[in-house]
Amino acid sequence: MSSYDVIVIGSGPGGYVAAIRCAQLGLKTACVEGRETLGGTCLNVGCIPSKALLHASHMLHEAEHNFAEMGLKGKSPSVDWKQMLTYKDSTIETNTKGIEFLFKKNKIDWLKGWGSIPEAGKVKVGDEVHEARNIIIATGSEPSSLPGVEVDEKVVVTSTGALELGKVPKKMVVIGAGVIGLELGSVYSRLGSEVTVVEFLDAITPGMDPEVQKTFQRMLKKQGLDFIMGAAVQKVEATKTKAKVHYKLRKDDSENAIDADVVLVATGRKPYHEGVGLDDLGIRLTKRGQIAVTKEWETDVKGIYAIGDVIEGPMLAHKAEDEGMAVAEVIAGKHGHVNYGVIPGVIYTHPEVASVGETEATLKEAGRAYKVGKFSFMGNARAKANFSGDGFVKIIADKETDRILGAHIIGPSAGDLIHEICVAMEFGASAQDLAMTCHAHPTYSEAVREAALACGDGPIHM
Ligand code: FAD
Ligand code: NAI
Repeated sequence: MSSYDVIVIGSGPGGYVAAIRCAQLGLKTACVEGRETLGGTCLNVGCIPSKALLHASHMLHEAEHNFAEMGLKGKSPSVDWKQMLTYKDSTIETNTKGIEFLFKKNKIDWLKGWGSIPEAGKVKVGDEVHEARNIIIATGSEPSSLPGVEVDEKVVVTSTGALELGKVPKKMVVIGAGVIGLELGSVYSRLGSEVTVVEFLDAITPGMDPEVQKTFQRMLKKQGLDFIMGAAVQKVEATKTKAKVHYKLRKDDSENAIDADVVLVATGRKPYHEGVGLDDLGIRLTKRGQIAVTKEWETDVKGIYAIGDVIEGPMLAHKAEDEGMAVAEVIAGKHGHVNYGVIPGVIYTHPEVASVGETEATLKEAGRAYKVGKFSFMGNARAKANFSGDGFVKIIADKETDRILGAHIIGPSAGDLIHEICVAMEFGASAQDLAMTCHAHPTYSEAVREAALACGDGPIHM
């Protein structure tokens, strides 16, 4: 039996970051992971592999659609799917090995196997029981199931199966127009699949700014994705090679079906904490099955904390990481803090979609007066040169104080541009502060400045 100051269960972005920060703060730390490799969902079957496939398929799209216009002529590249998967796998490996290196560097023990908590202060891995003054549960999430749909990860797949299909399907049906459905739907559409997205609601990406939703759907349609909106999926019938998706249109209750070679089920994820022993410990869950925690991420049992996808809040890697750092600070007797009002969300399609803070809808609901500054990438020289003029930056500021309350971007490098606004929000900046900051020309960032100008006397290039 070994004894630790902290044992973290799960090595995803929440767990591994918590472990590293604990070690940096001088705490003797171990991390339990049941997978073959470190890094959790994000590095193994989530953020990293999906971004590798998005990058590769985007390169193909550029070659097919934009090269000739720039005077780059020649045979268009063809898809070697096996090689693309090898590239994706090697990207995963570099990243997971990177975490292994960081664990060694910070003298963190990797306890290999599935962990449980037989009692407070103890973690069991295999036959061994270890002592821990503090335990952090960072066991993440798993795809949620849909009644009438049986996943075999070959024909009817979750995101995990969709990242390693045997071949590029001719016809793919995606259930759910959320982040996973649109990112992976884009990948296969660019690679030549006929992709139809079946969505229960009337708009894609629920919760997002409605103008962004509309522009985004229009752009995706232009890229070849088909949408069936307001459709409740009833069941999926599958053989070893084909599937039929049955759905009911909400507007008239009519029953319909669509055939597919592969069906991707992307209707959300749920917290994962199986086998940890929460019931016996008396650790409370929320109505949605998340582990209930205090403001300092402590569960109902003293010395047992929980972070990341397994607790409340957006299921995002960077949110889990922030909580990982903060809980380590708390355990070390310092002040851990996460500003949940400034957590950006990014969809890595082309163009990217990014948002942070309030939407017009949330402000209306709160009865708060606001103003909107909007700037189209059509007025941005760099975007026009790079075939990226479609899209806009929208900044929402308090009507009285001009303080930035939120931002919504659809356009080139939106996922990077949003951070300028996040930093401004962290510093309590006004739109005018952003507007008065010199921005280099020609950059996409100028569109952010112009949107900030649009909150005041008006943009220059529009
Ligand atoms: P996880 O990453 O899920 O890690 C939990 C780990 O705990 C797992 O490795 C699991 O094996 C281990 N574990 C569970 N139980 C035990 C146990 N009892 N003992 C030992 N080990 C255990 N987020 C973004 O911010 N950006 C993105 O681009 C993005 N892309 C995504 C793409 C896809 C396809 C998916 C599915 C998700 C994506 N996400 C993205 C979400 C992101 O992956 C999660 O928010 C993030 O991984 C959560 O981190 P976590 O540490 O809470 O849990
Ligand atoms: P999601 O919550 O983003 O979207 C699910 C979609 O499915 C919604 O539009 C919902 O209305 C729809 N839906 C639900 N039930 C349905 C039904 N029966 N029929 C038709 N449509 C239905 O969930 P998703 O895409 O599975 O992603 C899960 C999580 O992973 C998200 O919370 C996200 O935070 C995270 N993620 C983040 C990424 C990023 O940051 N870029 C990338 C991928 C995932």
